[in-house]
Amino acid sequence: MNPGSIALGVNIDHVATLRQARGGHSPDPLLAALLAEQAGADGITLHLREDRRHIQDRDVQVLRGALQTRMNLEMAATTAMLELAVGVRPDAVCLVPERRAELTTEGGLDVLAQEATIAEACQRLTGAGVRVALFIDPEPAQVEAAVRAGAAAVELHTGAYAGARGAGQAAALARLVAAARHAAGCGLIVHAGHGLDFHNVQPVAAIPAVVELNIGHALIARAIFSGLPAAVVEMKRLMQAARPA
Ligand code: PXP
Repeated sequence: MNPGSIALGVNIDHVATLRQARGGHSPDPLLAALLAEQAGADGITLHLREDRRHIQDRDVQVLRGALQTRMNLEMAATTAMLELAVGVRPDAVCLVPERRAELTTEGGLDVLAQEATIAEACQRLTGAGVRVALFIDPEPAQVEAAVRAGAAAVELHTGAYAGARGAGQAAALARLVAAARHAAGCGLIVHAGHGLDFHNVQPVAAIPAVVELNIGHALIARAIFSGLPAAVVEMKRLMQAARPA
């Protein structure tokens, strides 16, 4: 990637959510992924949840064979998911915390509290040729735990920033800026995501150390009215326009 550029990973989970609402074949997450790639997505992100509420095992297999860019599989660090990921070998895995009752991934992974388990998962995935990112809150102690666990990357949880307003949002952004700088200084690749939309994306895209954003809900919501390719093109335009020269 060129210096100064930033990648967009398009999360297609919500297309699968809509499909599952009727239990049929439509809308097809594969078609969404291919359209997003054609419109300039740098990667496709999908979360195979333990309860299979949206993405199904078959989607993972089909997408693995069809994607032209990168497959980023979000998953919990359970034995069953690790088995599956080692079999599928996506380009990247993002380890996330998972609670059955949550609407979406509500907080970052507490790497500090489960360092040995996460380190083992990192080792297993890395050994299979998969790049591992840990989805963490923008806290220095979690960044340092991610380094010790052997992750190649962290994805900073932008949910607190996205949900705040005014001074609270500025403070949340400052925490993201500091965590991104700290993580890059520790040699980690830095991604960010969650709750980013067309209005709040630019200050995060402007953080020099952040090289990838993963965005789902806002893109699929916009796609209902304007189509997915137009939504992806507009998000990439906003992200790139915010980059430091
Ligand atoms: N990154 C991670 C690790 C996530 O779990 C999610 C939600 O699935 C996203 C990014 C995308 O969040 P949103 O759908 O709010 O853009």
